[in-house]
Amino acid sequence: MQLPLQAVLSGTGSYVPKRIVRNEDFTSTIDTSDEWIRSRTGIRERRFAEQGETGTSMGLKASKIALEQAKLKPEDIDLIICATITPDWMTPSTANLIQTQLGCRHIPAFDLSAACTGFIYAVSVAKQFIATGSVKHALVLGSEVLSRVIDLTDRNTCILFGDGSGAAIFSASTEQNRGILDIDLHSDGKGNHLIRVPSPVTQFTPEDKPGFFLTMHGRDVFKFAVTKFTELLKDAIRRAAILGREIGLIVPHQVNQRIIDSVMESTGFPSDRVMINLDRYGNTSGASVPIALDEAIQSGRAKRGDLILLVGFGAGLTWGSTLLQL
Ligand SMILES: CC(C)(COP(=O)(O)OP(=O)(O)OC[C@H]1O[C@@H](n2cnc3c(N)ncnc32)[C@H](O)[C@@H]1OP(=O)(O)O)[C@@H](O)C(=O)NCCC(=O)NCCS
Repeated sequence: MQLPLQAVLSGTGSYVPKRIVRNEDFTSTIDTSDEWIRSRTGIRERRFAEQGETGTSMGLKASKIALEQAKLKPEDIDLIICATITPDWMTPSTANLIQTQLGCRHIPAFDLSAACTGFIYAVSVAKQFIATGSVKHALVLGSEVLSRVIDLTDRNTCILFGDGSGAAIFSASTEQNRGILDIDLHSDGKGNHLIRVPSPVTQFTPEDKPGFFLTMHGRDVFKFAVTKFTELLKDAIRRAAILGREIGLIVPHQVNQRIIDSVMESTGFPSDRVMINLDRYGNTSGASVPIALDEAIQSGRAKRGDLILLVGFGAGLTWGSTLLQL
């Protein structure tokens, strides 16, 4: 019997806008301080897109780096999936725009909406295409311009988010102990009201506060994030043990240092084996895991042979993880 093909990571890339917005930059417009933001979230600064910069333009830059790293050409790519909640257009998809601007063939390309878990979902879809043999090289992105959906007068939300793009190429391989070993995905729409971004066709109910911007119930989301991240990590440790392996590095969704600290404390997982860049970029939703993964690889923190756990959690509610053998 022929074993299913594995989806092996063959290249990564990331791009963040040049414009740095420091905590101090908010103090002239809202009642906040660098001390409050740092101590409550761990964030020091984030990047905001320049005028004219979009999820597509950033995704294109991240994709070109990933192609270089994978030593592939645009015409080698067979599938593009872009995880985003801030597409340039409701339609066409950001993935469609990247397909043509990158110079790919007329391959399938589509966006996927699972908020901060989006990249984990997108990776799992790519894995299925690769396992069936219909795709050899899949380009999977997370690309977000959250600065355009946050209310800069709302101190509860505006300090948390940033913009950027991360890309990863997964390639078919017959090596059985490499690539995406395991996927764990969840959703619970009962928590849909906890984080929302309206669209031009949103039908507001009398209980809703109509508006254009992202709204969030921070404390409830914090509890959800700690609970689900803890469950995902405990499960992943158990699943890795079944494979006779130990997780070398966690690349979690970058949102709040206190969420990460709380999970490391309750699970006993060593905090020096967690990739963190939220201090520099804040929460970039679907882009946060691929940007952090790319930085982990480029900096040498994640190396060939390592077992990596990618973790995401966010609006939907959605949460999920992926065990990835580099
Ligand atoms: C948003 C978050 C940082 C707030 O931290 P917190 O410790 O829970 O703070 P609270 O919401 O309890 O608010 C405490 C006080 O700080 C105030 N506050 C909120 N934002 C503030 C800011 N930027 N600066 C100063 N004070 C602020 C609140 O108004 C509140 O004041 P009050 O007690 O007078 O009402 C935190 O809840 C969080 O990170 N939640 C998860 C967010 C998340 O994960 N989102 C995306 C999911 S993918």
